[in-house]
Amino acid sequence: MRVSKQELTDLIQTKLTKAGLHEEHAEVVADVLVFADAKGIHSHGAMRVEYYAERIAKHGINNQPQFNFEETGPSSGILHGDNGAGHVAANLAMDEAIQMAKKTGVAVVGVKNMSHSGAISYFTERAAAQDLVGFSVCQSDPMVVPFGGAEAYYGTNPIAFAAPGKNGKCISFDMATTVQAWGKILHARSKNESIPETWAVDKNGEATTDPFKVQALLPIAGPKGYGLGMMVDVLAGVLLGLPFGNKVSSMYHDLTEGRNLGQLHLVINPEQFTAINQFKDNITTVMNDLNNIKPAPGFDQVYYPGQNLEVIQADYEANGIEIVDDIYNYLTSDAIHYNAYDSKDPFAE
Ligand code: NAI
Repeated sequence: MRVSKQELTDLIQTKLTKAGLHEEHAEVVADVLVFADAKGIHSHGAMRVEYYAERIAKHGINNQPQFNFEETGPSSGILHGDNGAGHVAANLAMDEAIQMAKKTGVAVVGVKNMSHSGAISYFTERAAAQDLVGFSVCQSDPMVVPFGGAEAYYGTNPIAFAAPGKNGKCISFDMATTVQAWGKILHARSKNESIPETWAVDKNGEATTDPFKVQALLPIAGPKGYGLGMMVDVLAGVLLGLPFGNKVSSMYHDLTEGRNLGQLHLVINPEQFTAINQFKDNITTVMNDLNNIKPAPGFDQVYYPGQNLEVIQADYEANGIEIVDDIYNYLTSDAIHYNAYDSKDPFAE
């Protein structure tokens, strides 16, 4: 079914507030989730609300966190997240990074001890909207085998990058470092469909096409995606003195405990290198150049990174955001959560 952006935002905000989240924080979380749904990134939109609501109600997301920004140098700092909602902590850290990069030319701001922060292009696109280049990485729960390994070590550790062009447009690239998100395995299970053998491995570390046998996901492009996942974990975990590798907390383990996750934003002011108008003109040229590349057989057009989501966004803006009926029914119900996530084994059938 389709719902308006405003209705979806209101429903999410109300549900999270009822679960116990501070009203101002619920407003930010709703904005980040609706940002994702409005671009068709449904894996990081309203479908997460029930999980967040359960974790908030069980105090595994701190309802009254003491956020604290510590400047650690002229161009660096740490936002102490106190295990509050990750979306809010990462957003505050981006506020600080934007201000700092405008002042000193560059900013590296870590977020320490936060909960899940959603689709992280939300934060990099905020930098681009201020004529800055945004880069962000964050940790997630271990469910990815290192190249050649039969056991999970890293998370799906996403990387996002955004650079401003003209007329409020930007190139926005945002990806997990795995071939497919965990949600795609669950989707295949629900439809009893097989999966391509490039997605995941079974308990022996062998590629599997049976979604019910999946015990870990595969990194993108073998050792290269493995290396990128490692880089994310070093920047967002080891660098900040947080748990790293397979010691990163699981999304579903003990919903009464904070997750202590890390994220790192890097913001660059293009003015340090080139005139901003020249930079934005050139980014727009890159976008146009890519659009004008001859399409390969089977393709209508080459999109610049993120443009595929702009196409979805334009449709949703005109016709409402597509939401799964069950999610809408949950959002409009009186239930806060159904105890569906506590101690859930993500790999259990
Ligand atoms: P994806 O595979 O759907 O897209 C990856 C990138 O490729 C996007 O920038 C997209 O715009 C671009 N792209 C896709 N098709 C394209 C096309 N035809 N032409 C041009 N560009 C194209 O994304 P993925 O890996 O499934 O990640 C989804 C979301 O999950 C992201 O927002 C990410 O931040 C989020 N995530 C968050 C985590 C967390 O713990 N907070 C963990 C893992 C992912």
